[in-house]
Amino acid sequence: MKVSIIASITVDGFIAQNVEQSSLRWTSKEDTKFFVEFTKKVGVLIMGSKTFETINRPLPDRKIIVLTRSKKYDQFSLDQVVAEGREIREVLEELKTSGQKEVAITGGTSIYTQFMKAKLVDELYLTVEPIVFGSGLKLFNESLDQKLELIEIIDLSRQTKVLHYKIIQ
Ligand SMILES: NC(=O)c1ccc[n+]([C@@H]2O[C@H](COP(=O)([O-])OP(=O)(O)OC[C@H]3O[C@@H](n4cnc5c(N)ncnc54)[C@H](OP(=O)(O)O)[C@@H]3O)[C@@H](O)[C@H]2O)c1
Repeated sequence: MKVSIIASITVDGFIAQNVEQSSLRWTSKEDTKFFVEFTKKVGVLIMGSKTFETINRPLPDRKIIVLTRSKKYDQFSLDQVVAEGREIREVLEELKTSGQKEVAITGGTSIYTQFMKAKLVDELYLTVEPIVFGSGLKLFNESLDQKLELIEIIDLSRQTKVLHYKIIQ
């Protein structure tokens, strides 16, 4: 099963100015379209509860697995949003066993960092937006030493590019 991180970053490597900030507040419409198309193709998204709080609704034609040790999402149907408190490896194993071919890791910082540290990621899609924050939440917030290979640069517009990397295992 292919595991891909998808994230939008500022030129200085931030994914948000603060934990409440939705990415829709600062990313381009081209990037939103890319995110929607990519995640619909993949079908299953894994995100942390704080990121889900910035969305707070199901996303059409996708299943969201929300990592949380404390919250429940009983108001949503199980094929739309599920709360998951198990180890991230177990969550991936179950998806693989169920026949899932791809999964998108959609943030935030704590989730991106845990998946990278555990070496569970195959590919990285980073949309670089022409903006700097100077401070805020980084893409990763723990020490890592991971080499990548740039596979392609996807031109979303003159201003916005997606850097598509493969993780060198
Ligand atoms: N620019 C982008 O592409 C992008 C993408 C995604 C998110 N973001 C931004 O990132 C920010 C949120 O990031 P964040 O790091 O603060 O929070 P987060 O990673 O979205 O969520 C953290 C929460 O996830 C749960 N969690 C984390 N690890 C877990 C594990 N192993 N097992 C079970 N539950 C686990 C905990 O939830 P409980 O406290 O409920 O137990 C934890 O408080 C927001 O501002 C959001 O907009 C940006």
